[in-house]
Amino acid sequence: MSTDVAISEANTDAQRAEVQELFSRTFRGIAPNAIPAVKDDHLYAPLVLHYHDIETGQLAGAALTCRSQVAVGMTMMRRPEYAPVMDRHSELDLMAVAPAFRGRGVGSALVSAMEDRLRERGVRIWFGNATRDLETARLREFYTRHGFTVLPDSQPLPDLLGRSWVLPTAEQPAFHFYKQITKG
Ligand SMILES: CC(C)(COP(=O)(O)OP(=O)(O)OC[C@H]1O[C@@H](n2cnc3c(N)ncnc32)[C@H](O)[C@@H]1OP(=O)(O)O)[C@@H](O)C(=O)NCCC(=O)NCCS
Repeated sequence: MSTDVAISEANTDAQRAEVQELFSRTFRGIAPNAIPAVKDDHLYAPLVLHYHDIETGQLAGAALTCRSQVAVGMTMMRRPEYAPVMDRHSELDLMAVAPAFRGRGVGSALVSAMEDRLRERGVRIWFGNATRDLETARLREFYTRHGFTVLPDSQPLPDLLGRSWVLPTAEQPAFHFYKQITKG
């Protein structure tokens, strides 16, 4: 199977609606507009990748990484603190593989394709967290295998690029993970 062909960017609102549907099926209680609309791309700089099964055309998996809420919020409030690092970071916000396709390398291919594209964009630090309702032990292994530093349970995300990326009001996740993206 050629992952280059299977994976592409969801750059229209119709494609993103299909991805949103997969996310809504996977994660209970996520916002119906969890994926930024195309008209807001200048704010969130999202990268939405979707993986379609070559044989059936079915959506097998998808992932969204974008600017962190804290950075976008600061910009909207016209506070300049995050401006210098705006294009140097990305937060892996949501990733899901449909149950029938799990364990076949789809998630790994999405991570690898996202990393390549973020590197091309000049992103230097990539981070995210896993919430407590997920299979956290397996996710720890997944992110460790992909070269992330996976922090012990409940340990706060350290400042990265000299900034804090955690919203003070956010619910505490099970764990955080992060990775430096080195120039190719
Ligand atoms: C995590 C997930 C994206 C991985 O995609 P995938 O295509 O199954 O992953 P790969 O085939 O590339 O790698 C398999 C590894 O993924 C992890 N994994 C597989 N299914 C998983 C699940 N239901 N929950 C958590 N991790 C899982 C395991 O580490 C697995 O390795 P193992 O088989 O040795 O245990 C996918 O399982 C999924 O959508 N899980 C539910 C939603 C989720 O947890 N998303 C991540 C939010 S941070």
